[in-house]
Amino acid sequence: MDQNYLLNDQYKTAANLTARVDLHKRFSVNRDGWFRWVFDQINLPPRARILEIACGRGDLWRENLDRIPAGWDITLTDFAEGMLAETKSNLANTGREFKIEHADIRSIPYDDAEFDAVIANHMLYYVPDKPGAFREVLRVRKPGGKFYTTTVGSRHMEQLNELVQRFCDGALAFDFDSRGLDFLLENGLAQLEPFFKAIRMRRYEDALKVTQAEPLVKYIFSGRLKELLKAREQGLRAFIAGEIEASGAIHIFKDSGIFIGSKG
Ligand SMILES: C[S@@+](CC[C@H](N)C(=O)[O-])C[C@H]1O[C@@H](n2cnc3c(N)ncnc32)[C@H](O)[C@@H]1O
Repeated sequence: MDQNYLLNDQYKTAANLTARVDLHKRFSVNRDGWFRWVFDQINLPPRARILEIACGRGDLWRENLDRIPAGWDITLTDFAEGMLAETKSNLANTGREFKIEHADIRSIPYDDAEFDAVIANHMLYYVPDKPGAFREVLRVRKPGGKFYTTTVGSRHMEQLNELVQRFCDGALAFDFDSRGLDFLLENGLAQLEPFFKAIRMRRYEDALKVTQAEPLVKYIFSGRLKELLKAREQGLRAFIAGEIEASGAIHIFKDSGIFIGSKG
């Protein structure tokens, strides 16, 4: 993935990620909530040092403020300054202390064996040299510590791709089409296995039932398609509204989950 695009465009501010999180929050069928479920998977002692790489907007912590153990010392990092600014503002005045610092998974700016757990959610598919990133995670993680990493499956949001293709008569593909990603629920294990031991994968059951056009237009426009489709924005909005009117909702399959590396 083009690192300049990620830093200077896609994640320059939190606006694109916010459009996507907003759609999921409003129209997900599973009302437990993704970030509550991810937190449920984190199994650590009452006192632990935790590093999150690529924290985005800090949603994992914001959504679980009511149940973070007091003895957890939490460092949140991202390589995009705009995301760090958003995390700081989202976690300000929460009564909970978080260290919020700049870090790139390709060269993590911490000492060896500092953390009981490292978390890297929905980001490994952006990293060109995954073995290098895994070596960095292992270096800063204490022996026997944990690694948590979420990602999507290849069919995640596939109906959104089909929708865009229908609108463009097959001329354009949705640019978050998961099939193009190189770290997926289907192939992540094979990539992790040379580095981590006792890896488990768990899936989160969910789907979208979208009943409003605008949040879906914003989602589609949170990527590179915005440039290609901006002259046709009104047409896209009307097309989506028509689909919703015809069947009551647009149903979109989701496939997300987590890998947990426990030892080694
Ligand atoms: C899809 S967002 C996920 C954010 C958050 N983990 C979540 O699950 O909501 C991807 C994040 O990865 C960050 N990122 C991408 N490449 C990175 C790298 N090499 N090192 C650190 N952060 C990176 C981006 O800035 C962005 O915040």
